[in-house]
Amino acid sequence: MEAAILNQHTALPHESGEPHDQLPCIADVAPGGPWRQLVNRVIRRRVSAVATQTGEERLEAVASSGLSGDIPIPGDKSMSHRALIIGGLAEGTTIIHGLLESEDVLHTAEAVRSFGATVERFGEGYWTVTGTRWQSPDAPVECGNSGTAARLLMGAAAGFALEARFVGDESLSRRPMDRILEPLRRMGAVAVGDVLPVTLRGGQLVRISHVNSRASAQVKSALLFAGLHAEGGVEIIEPAASRDHSETMLREFGCNLEVDRGRINLDGSCRPTATSIRIPGDPSSAAFPFVAALISPGSNVRARSVMINPLRAGLFDTLRAMGARLDVTPRGNMSGEAVADITAAYGPLQGIEVPAERAPSMIDEYPILAVAAAYASGRTILHGLAELRVKECDRLAAIVEGLRVCGVEAWIEGDTLFIEGRGGPPPGGAVVAAHGDHRIAMSFLVLGLASCSPVAVDSATSIATSFPGFAQLMRRIGANIA
Ligand code: S3P
Repeated sequence: MEAAILNQHTALPHESGEPHDQLPCIADVAPGGPWRQLVNRVIRRRVSAVATQTGEERLEAVASSGLSGDIPIPGDKSMSHRALIIGGLAEGTTIIHGLLESEDVLHTAEAVRSFGATVERFGEGYWTVTGTRWQSPDAPVECGNSGTAARLLMGAAAGFALEARFVGDESLSRRPMDRILEPLRRMGAVAVGDVLPVTLRGGQLVRISHVNSRASAQVKSALLFAGLHAEGGVEIIEPAASRDHSETMLREFGCNLEVDRGRINLDGSCRPTATSIRIPGDPSSAAFPFVAALISPGSNVRARSVMINPLRAGLFDTLRAMGARLDVTPRGNMSGEAVADITAAYGPLQGIEVPAERAPSMIDEYPILAVAAAYASGRTILHGLAELRVKECDRLAAIVEGLRVCGVEAWIEGDTLFIEGRGGPPPGGAVVAAHGDHRIAMSFLVLGLASCSPVAVDSATSIATSFPGFAQLMRRIGANIA
């Protein structure tokens, strides 16, 4: 029996040219039974053989069911960057609990230290930062893969009389920095380069009023941090609300900001004072196990203390509108941010049309939403996705490419993404190019958990930029990822 299955699957379908629809679907085999175990074992061996051929860092996901249990969600990435940076600018010692210890955030910690602040780790997620007047670092500031680190740190550093060279990895060095450098130059900073590496000379900034052409929290935050040391502060006008963690956290540090219908005003008098920050679970990370549970038969998972700031919760609203069994129980707030315990359970999903206006509240969640849409019944249409082109990779192209090799019809018209839902398990049976992008890698692993045949992703090491324990955590709730 085992040999017969092996013979049937000597090559992955898209490599052999075999049409996806003619393959037997693992989801037809009863969950948990001996058949399922046998098929999983054989398929895992097959994907592993293909995955090791090129020597790249790969993970593969095999159809899973009955995911269950409590998932500890790591601390929010956006808040973690901000706690370190504002702590490094504040008077006194800030205590941080729940800091995300991912590569992106560790780059920010190291950078803040290199500007002269004292940054110490006392245990998992338990850090302190003692602020100072920032000075020129001895070496280039390494931002790795992190756009948030690069943009927010450049904004903060611009307020001081220092010179720093900011560098990043290949992907970050392609991403646009002019969106923050142009307004920083108008404030008085000198910046050489429009993409990394950028050399920045700061100090003696003046107040500007900046009309943000896009709803970007990174631009807003960079200017707010620069504004802390600008004569007269800074004003930012947003076309639509972007995540407001910088505003909330600055308030936690004792700063008074005025926010009025898209106009954010920081006067020149704000001097952040050290405080204690507790960081809740990252909704952008929680999205992966939640969607895995929604599309893997018999699943029911729970996460506690997940941040549900409405400017980050667009995915949850969208999934509920698709019929998802997501149950949200509010649990007060942590350091000014609303949190909730959330359960996600398997059930049918319907395709949906999502307006462009919702994009800022779920900008990082489109890859995983695309996976839910691939499983759903009917067509999903997602508008207003231009910004996805300039994320860690061209996410719009990567999503379409990944869905297609997994046998799901998807296409782009302008800034709109169309996905033809399969109304159940997609074929899968492919190696997906993650393009070094953590969220693409995690999304397609989740797709593999609910596909007929396994899905492998390359550049799986990228997952450590935002969610280092992803694979272990998913295994703990019953996911077949190896
Ligand atoms: C972030 C803002 C968003 C988001 C990024 C994190 C932040 O970027 O995509 O992952 O922490 O401010 P934009 O500001 O470019 O939309």
